[in-house]
Amino acid sequence: MQAIKVKENIYWVGVKDWNLREFHGYATPNGSTYNSYLIEDEKKVLIDGVKSYLSSEQIARIQSRLDLSKIDYLIVNHVEQDHSGNIPELMKLAPQMVIVTNAAGKMALEAHFDTTGWNFMIVKTGDKLDLGKRCITFVTTPLLHWPDSMMSYCNEDKILFSNDGFGQHYCSNTIWVKEAPFDLIANEAKSYYANILFPYGMQAQKALNTTGELNLDIEMIAPSHGCIWSQKEEIAWILAHYGKWAAAENDGSAVVVYDTMWGATAKLADTITTVFQDAGVRVVKRCLSNTHISEVMSDILEAKYVAIGTPTLNNELFPRVAAFVTYLKGLSPKNKKGFAFGSYGWRGGVVNKIQAVMEELKWETIPPFEEKYTPKPEVLEQLKNHVATMLQD
Ligand code: FEO
Repeated sequence: MQAIKVKENIYWVGVKDWNLREFHGYATPNGSTYNSYLIEDEKKVLIDGVKSYLSSEQIARIQSRLDLSKIDYLIVNHVEQDHSGNIPELMKLAPQMVIVTNAAGKMALEAHFDTTGWNFMIVKTGDKLDLGKRCITFVTTPLLHWPDSMMSYCNEDKILFSNDGFGQHYCSNTIWVKEAPFDLIANEAKSYYANILFPYGMQAQKALNTTGELNLDIEMIAPSHGCIWSQKEEIAWILAHYGKWAAAENDGSAVVVYDTMWGATAKLADTITTVFQDAGVRVVKRCLSNTHISEVMSDILEAKYVAIGTPTLNNELFPRVAAFVTYLKGLSPKNKKGFAFGSYGWRGGVVNKIQAVMEELKWETIPPFEEKYTPKPEVLEQLKNHVATMLQD
């Protein structure tokens, strides 16, 4: 396991989780990486730990450059265990390391681990750490996406170590965006935002503003998942998209998401999809029996219209739809136009549960629509007219 050079005296010492297919409920078909960086200046600094089960890989990469006893500081940008799981092991091997984190980071470390004997340096936005030839400036980004989240900026090399921000769950043979298929990276960056950062648009906007206020001249963004953004156009792309996503801008598209038992809700979904298509609205139709909820969230990120359909099972939402609606509610997308639809056998009304979530999210909605058993052609005509009212601005 070798360290990989990022810039003169700065190395990637992260780990690759090739087979990761699920990250707390989020499908990760391309695996992930837990990136960590080693800066070899007069003072030696390690940025972030990794998941505990991959600790030996990170340690081997560090040791390909230097002995752990030579490291002065461990910067903890975020305490979620994909970045902190092996910190107890690192601290056992290198107890001289001073942990540099913010006040919330220290509290979170203490809540996760036995930190007896660990030395801390507490930083806040704008604080600097002098390494000799280089200096690190800290930017706390609370709730992007944990209270302890923070980014670290190397002034001389113009690298923003952004932790979860600008990350992608993507594992490959390269650490560089420039060497990976850009469409794949862009999709994974979008999916990452939609499934991890979606509820925190305001915090994302604030973080973008703070980097501007501190005049951070960013030539490289080194996140803690996926590949490093190092080309001007790549950095412009990801910053512009974060700006757009944080501002909850939409591209006018529509998502029809549903599940079905005996095909009735599927018929309603087909009809709704046709209305969007015929109106020239770009639409995707997703059945939850074969599309993971995290893929649907990616579709919803930039959509304007979201129609959610359910069959009725034992007077309840169909379980896969219920799971999706719970996930959606937590991720809290803003500025959508919503429509709840569904089918039932002998007792209607479950669509109102979807409607209630849409209202809680403060979406603009049209009244829900449900039909008993199999919808007849005249009912589908009524549905068409009803959905068309959504398109009237
Ligand atoms: Fe990559 Fe919030 O941990």
